Parts: sequence; C-alpha cells; structure tokens
Amino acid sequence: MPERTLRIFRGTPEASTYQEFTVEMYEGMVVLDAIHEIQAEHANDLAVRWNCKAGRCGSCSAEINGKPQLMCMARMDKLDRSKPITVEPMRRFPLIRDLVTDVSWNYEVNKRIPPFKPQPRGPDGKHRMQQIDVERIQEFHKCIECFLCQDVCHVMRDHGRYDFAGPRFLIRIASLVMHPLDTENRLRELKDSFGLGYCNITQCCTEVCPEDIRITDNAIIPLKERVAGEFYDPVAWLWRLLRGKKADTRDTVH
Ligand code: SF4
Ligand code: SF4
Ligand code: FES
Repeated sequence: MPERTLRIFRGTPEASTYQEFTVEMYEGMVVLDAIHEIQAEHANDLAVRWNCKAGRCGSCSAEINGKPQLMCMARMDKLDRSKPITVEPMRRFPLIRDLVTDVSWNYEVNKRIPPFKPQPRGPDGKHRMQQIDVERIQEFHKCIECFLCQDVCHVMRDHGRYDFAGPRFLIRIASLVMHPLDTENRLRELKDSFGLGYCNITQCCTEVCPEDIRITDNAIIPLKERVAGEFYDPVAWLWRLLRGKKADTRDTVH
C-alpha cells in the first residue's frame, strides 16, 4: 500500500514546531482518517477538533496545504503527491493547541445581530411567504458554521479588521434582511457596525465554502446594493425626505 507523509503543526502560542508522520494510504482515506491514525499510533496527545466525520458539524476545519478546508472531506488521493501534506490550524483564530483554535469570537459577533422580528400574523393566525422567498434564503441556512470563510477572508486575516463581521455573518444577516416577514431594518448596522464596506467581493469565501453557498453573489452583493440604495442613492434620499420617513428597504413580495 502506498504511504503518505503528513507535516503537522504542533504546539501552543508559546512554542510550536512541525512534526512529520507517515501513514499507509487506503482507498477513500481522508486527512481526518490520517490524523486519527497518527493519534492512535504515534502522537496520543495530538489535539484536533472533530465530531461527525461527515462534513456536517463544521468542527474539523483546518488549513491543508495552505487551503482552508474540512479535514473529513479532504481526500488524501486528491492532494499533491510531490510533497508532504501540510496540516495547520486555521490561521485567523487564536491558537489553543496543535490543530485546535478558539473560534468563540464568531459567537460574539452572532450575538450582536438583531434577532428576527416578524410581522403580526394574518387574520387566520398564520404567517405566509412566497416560495421564491423561501428558496432564496434557504441557501444561507445550509451553513454548518465551519468558519472556513471567516478564516480565508483577507479583511480579517491580513488586515486584522475585527470590526468586520465576516462572510458567515453577512449571510446570516442576508437571511434576515431578505426575509419578507421580518420588520427590522438592519442596513445602518450593516454599514456602521458590521463593516460591510470592507468587503471588496474577492470571492475567496465562496471558493472555500463546503456547502457551496454563493456567499458573495447571493448575499454580500445584494446587501451592498441595499445599503447603497439606502444611504448613497440621491433619488432615494430625496424620496424619503419628501415622504418624511424611511423607505421600506425590504424586497417587495409579489
Ligand atoms: S468576498 Fe468579501 S467577505 Fe468574502 S473573502 Fe472576499 S472580502 Fe472577505
Ligand atoms: S458560509 Fe460556508 S464556509 Fe462559511 S461558515 Fe458557513 S458553511 Fe462554512
Ligand atoms: S468532523 Fe464534522 S465536518 Fe468534519
């Protein structure tokens, strides 16, 4: 059976190194299988976070050969055979140990998002929405919170802008802004508190998303359009002034 060498990041914020381990390959093997084998045979203390081993829980995010991806979905036979496979923790988040990082900052951002505020129910006691609206926001609900998009986004990764909510939370906000029953206007917060303007739509977040959510095209660009319409469109501004109130920025339900 062929063998593959893995070069794994080991250590804490105080001291770190890379260690190489060799494993025997088998058909269908993924990087998380190799990590488990290394844990069992060579390094019992290797810290790694995982749960489902099926691409569902979003726990096993790491950087494999420099690319943010899920270890349980990364097939060993698809990775460059000319060199050892490098496995590192997500660079964007504070290191705890080995492959485990502290992603709790994400939960703090999530708490700052104003919750869903639905319109009153209809006379029959029900809420109704069009199927087209259901489908549009359903894509955003596929998120497994792996935070790979947060890890890759250069706004935080390279420029350290922690006042930017990041792509994961922009899709969460999009799912609320595009919800036809929601009554909260989140556009000012998007502009002022969640840093939407920092995103320069490079698409890197979309490229790493294991759920194939079209983060940039379907969430961020429409949000940017709404913010531009709300705050920078002179015709809309004049219209609001004449009407004496803020125009409804939510989509019209047909
Ligand atoms: S498109 Fe925007 S959110 Fe996505 S990685 Fe690029 S800058 Fe970040
Ligand atoms: S949007 Fe995609 S990459 Fe980002 S956290 Fe959700 S599933 Fe992961
Ligand atoms: S272990 Fe759950 S997504 Fe990888």
